[in-house]
Amino acid sequence: MAQSIAILVGTITGTAEIVAEDVAPVLEGAGYEVEILDMDGLGPDVMFMSDLVLICTSTYGQGDVPDNAMDLHDALNEQRPDLSNLRYGVIGLGDSTYADTYNQGGARFDELLQELGAKRVGDVMRHNASSDELPEEAGVAWAKEWVELLAK
Ligand SMILES: Cc1cc2nc3c(=O)[nH]c(=O)nc-3n(C[C@H](O)[C@H](O)[C@H](O)COP(=O)(O)O)c2cc1C
Repeated sequence: MAQSIAILVGTITGTAEIVAEDVAPVLEGAGYEVEILDMDGLGPDVMFMSDLVLICTSTYGQGDVPDNAMDLHDALNEQRPDLSNLRYGVIGLGDSTYADTYNQGGARFDELLQELGAKRVGDVMRHNASSDELPEEAGVAWAKEWVELLAK
């Protein structure tokens, strides 16, 4: 049976969602069943509903996760479920003009999931909105490598 991947999207202005929509076909092409979920309204249970999780989130405020991701992040932090059976990846979006908090939204999820025992596959992708690279192109390139690592 195909393994499933939930792409959990944290966004305010929609870029992370566009990235998720372009990344999904790469994962499907590698044989995974993929579901894209807005983090808004999701609880920690979502971490147990698929074989793998791909966090795809931007950064706001003082290096915070976006508003729609805050409840899920806080609930995971408070309830601290055992995620030792979970493998995950992180696509982070940020802007290097925010030097002190560059890409911390993705980093916050990465730290928390590691604390809860989950195993990250691959490096955290960090897109810089001040670069010339399109976030969805960066995401697709990263996802092609990620599926290779997942298969190992
Ligand atoms: C008000 C505001 C605050 C932001 N704060 C940060 C930040 O602290 N660190 C960072 O790396 N990027 C920051 N960004 C950049 C966004 O994370 C980046 O533009 C991202 O691509 C937006 O993705 P989204 O459309 O999915 O929300 C900020 C952007 C805005 C508009």
